[in-house]
Amino acid sequence: MDKNWWKEAFGYQIYLRSFFDGNNDGIGDLPGIIAKLPYLAHLGVNLLWICPFYTSPMDDNGYDVANFYRVAREYGTLKDLRSLIKSAHQLQMKVIIDLVLNHTSDEHPWFKASRKSLNNPYRDYYIWKKPRIIDGQQTEPTNWASFFGGSCWEFDVRTQEYYMKIFSKKMPDLNWENPKVQEEMVQMATWWCEQGIDGFRIDAISHLAKAEFVDSDLFPDHEYKPDWSKYSNLPRLHDYLKLLNKRVFSKYNIVTIGEVGGNAPVSEGIAYTNPKNHELNMVFNFDHNWCNNAWGAQSKKELSTDVQQLKAVFHKWQTGLYGQGWNAIYWLNHDQPRLMSQYGDPEHYHQESAKMLATVLYFMGGTPFIYNGEEIGMTNPEFKSIADFRDVSIINQYEINVKRHHQDEQAFLARAALTSRDNARSLMQWSDQADGGFSLVKPWNIIGDYHKINVAKQINDPQSIFTYYRRIIALRKSDQYRDVLVYGTYEGLWMEHPDLFAYMRSYAHQRLLVIANMTKKTVALPSIPYQQVKIILANYEGRQLSPALLPYEAMLIQIEEED
Ligand code: GLC
Ligand code: CA
Repeated sequence: MDKNWWKEAFGYQIYLRSFFDGNNDGIGDLPGIIAKLPYLAHLGVNLLWICPFYTSPMDDNGYDVANFYRVAREYGTLKDLRSLIKSAHQLQMKVIIDLVLNHTSDEHPWFKASRKSLNNPYRDYYIWKKPRIIDGQQTEPTNWASFFGGSCWEFDVRTQEYYMKIFSKKMPDLNWENPKVQEEMVQMATWWCEQGIDGFRIDAISHLAKAEFVDSDLFPDHEYKPDWSKYSNLPRLHDYLKLLNKRVFSKYNIVTIGEVGGNAPVSEGIAYTNPKNHELNMVFNFDHNWCNNAWGAQSKKELSTDVQQLKAVFHKWQTGLYGQGWNAIYWLNHDQPRLMSQYGDPEHYHQESAKMLATVLYFMGGTPFIYNGEEIGMTNPEFKSIADFRDVSIINQYEINVKRHHQDEQAFLARAALTSRDNARSLMQWSDQADGGFSLVKPWNIIGDYHKINVAKQINDPQSIFTYYRRIIALRKSDQYRDVLVYGTYEGLWMEHPDLFAYMRSYAHQRLLVIANMTKKTVALPSIPYQQVKIILANYEGRQLSPALLPYEAMLIQIEEED
């Protein structure tokens, strides 16, 4: 297997708007990140992914881009970005940015022109369709749903046609069939590479190609059918990626990471990332995000971690892509609730469960990404009413379900609190000062329990979650363990066990074993058929291998060669 810098890197995702407010206007910004670079260097990460900072009306916090070549004023300037890249490089950290290719803002000049008339030169930059008349009623071109609630079509009065929008109505989908759109994106991505960035996290990449525009016959009970296969992982998009690779990615020493939602199977993961295909370097898949009933649960009680399913999903991707492609590994990102509130036990075993989760994930193969705040075990904040939410997706769904269809408001809010993306977008908890030390003025979003959980409290504490993350990162980068942790094979163990997560990494004659109890019970340990073992890292200080694992206990163990 080829060795590459990006395989050996340790990533960290920064949700810009919520990270740190450098100029005290209540909104996180680029100078805020610069101020915190020493913190990130101290943690040890060396590949920063910064969420969108482009000029935007911020309908979806910047994923709705109105100018791909400009920094939004509230986030700083291009000069700030350049100095961020420079300072990061001095600290041996690389910087990758979000590349949004699927859609623009409706305030982008292309869309403003496109919607003017049927024969505007920009008309074909987007996907426009005539209405259908069904039973005398004007109807959308297809019955497909949008990810953010309602139809994926929006009627535009001026030209009496619908445009496609799989996210919000302020995010019209680009028409990738149009060679002019392809060319614009090649130019734009090239321009960013010339600015000295080290790569791209490519947003919503699996949705660039759309199926034939015919109704879905799935989901009979839904008004609009959440049949994501209509615009996910379709063959044509691989042509677009090959084009981008040939014209842009292959010309620079950069890394490219695709976000592949929409149920991408392992075979698709390989199609995207096998070096022979000349598309992307790695993918974020979503499979493990759904293993704790987060989407079905109506209340906290119904959240449960399905350990067997988690093991199966990780084993599948770890072994499936081994030698064939490359995984980006992460627990959760800015589109999901906080890790600790999903898979941890913040109330009773905050430290133990946070460290256990880190142990389970970060010794796998692939390039790891921490989501900001995870390294101190941040949890979901407490939402009291709809006014506490900012996410366009929740606000849309509230309008449709509660206002229009009179769904019970309390039930809606209870579910929103469990699943909302605002959980992850709550402010970074730097200290126990007002608003967690994020800003000196009233911030734009909600914050979690910063009195209990904050950076200041953990940064110098040898027992803290933060320090444990530092140790993991250092191990992954160390001469002694780098090869086995980065390039080793993965074998899932005890796959049928309901409580324990375990796997083996092997490389040359080195073998590392991870064992973890994902529950709050003490669980008997199956026998380990090796005599000589050495514990490299453990989340309970000073513990030896014993017949049972304590609640949330986890270890990284080296199997010593027998003489
Ligand atoms: C991706 C982003 C998400 C955004 C969407 C539309 O899924 O991660 O935050 O809303 O794309 O750009
Ligand atoms: Ca600011």
